[in-house]
Amino acid sequence: MTGEVRVQGSKNGALPLMTATVLIQGKTVLHNCPRITDIEAMADLLRTIGCKVAFDKNTITIDATHICDTHCPQKQVQAMRSSIMLLGPLLGRCKSVQMNRPGGCVIGERPTDIHEYALRRMNVEFVAEEDTITAYTEKLTGADICLPFPSVGATENVIMAAVTAEGTTRLSNAAIEPEIRLLCEFLRRAGAKIKGIGTPVLEITGVDVLREVTMSIMPDRIVAGTYLLAAAATGGQILLRDAPTEQMQSLISVLRRMGAGVFADKDMICMDAEGAKGPCEFLRTEVYPGFPTDLQSMLVAVLTTAEGESIVEETIFEGRFRIVSQLQKMGARIEETGNRVRISGVKKLRGGLLQAQELRGGAALVIAALAAEGESTVTGLPYIQRGYEDIVRDIRRLGGDIAYITGEQNVPV
Ligand code: EPZ
Repeated sequence: MTGEVRVQGSKNGALPLMTATVLIQGKTVLHNCPRITDIEAMADLLRTIGCKVAFDKNTITIDATHICDTHCPQKQVQAMRSSIMLLGPLLGRCKSVQMNRPGGCVIGERPTDIHEYALRRMNVEFVAEEDTITAYTEKLTGADICLPFPSVGATENVIMAAVTAEGTTRLSNAAIEPEIRLLCEFLRRAGAKIKGIGTPVLEITGVDVLREVTMSIMPDRIVAGTYLLAAAATGGQILLRDAPTEQMQSLISVLRRMGAGVFADKDMICMDAEGAKGPCEFLRTEVYPGFPTDLQSMLVAVLTTAEGESIVEETIFEGRFRIVSQLQKMGARIEETGNRVRISGVKKLRGGLLQAQELRGGAALVIAALAAEGESTVTGLPYIQRGYEDIVRDIRRLGGDIAYITGEQNVPV
């Protein structure tokens, strides 16, 4: 593959900002918003509680002046896991919220115990029911909270509950992913009082009112990483524009260790993957700034044709090796033991019929297909469209031989 592409706005940056608009009795304008199905689903969910949401290409305007309902309908909530990030904002705005448990997905059971533990510390009551979350509070109050694990979503919910709570919240062991920093900057622009942004210890003093904000969403580090790994799988030379280089150091270091030539400046990454066939002796996924779990499946796909043996350990989710069986069908030599896979590189994978079962695994199958001999078809396009504006458009711009099967939900590669 040879070519260049501009990186879309961040899905995991945009979604919490969309839920945070519920705290603002007015209009919020977000630029560089990716047009993906998770964003459309979140827009639908916000409309059901009374927000007016309009898109103009990659600009979204959300008017949350009139929130009329705190019951989030099952259909919209279960369309995506990130509905859970409405807990904090609706408790902050309306003091109550009811929603179906967003539930798990193939990558893991994805409980909400950390969210509930933290919000209980802020004077929130939860009614324990099998498949719904009902929460209410007389008054959200600041608290000292130490998260048992730096959960991204739980950190976001606490921040959004704390910005208009009474008193001060000291949150320790907070997640420090770039999407958290973006949320804090957004809320600070709205008038929130947040100290320690970018660190695992945040101090948030509640304010009475948050004001309207216009902000641009940062580029998507996982989408950018996807395209670097696609080029690594095929030995290409690519250029990424608008890449969030600073947020991608762990991947860049892995690619260099594999033999790729990577030149990166503030918002552009140029990579020559011609020699990038080295294995990864040992790679463990970690919370930021470690190697991101969201790129793990794609790295495994690349390592199936590396020259040597690699070991990858997944430490964040319990079900993130779903694509192993499909890679084995393509001729990959992979052994899965617990939360580790051992990969012995083969010369080439064989193309075939592949089924995406979740977002990042689907992107990984596209990468495997690009590197394989012969044609492959990847079914389950809607999974991929949850996070990628147009994976075919972007990969074609990078020189990949890929097209949609018109009228089908499949991506032949
Ligand atoms: C966010 O999910 C991202 N999603 C995920 O990206 C990402 O993989 C994940 O963070 C880790 O970086 C969005 O931002 C919308 P967590 P989140 O809470 O917030 C356990 C993608 O492909 N946990 O940090 O759900 C949980 O089960 C998606 O874009 C609890 O046990 O992640 C998991 O094992 C996939 N109890 C681990 O913590 C809780 O209450 C990390 O989860 C919460 C989480």
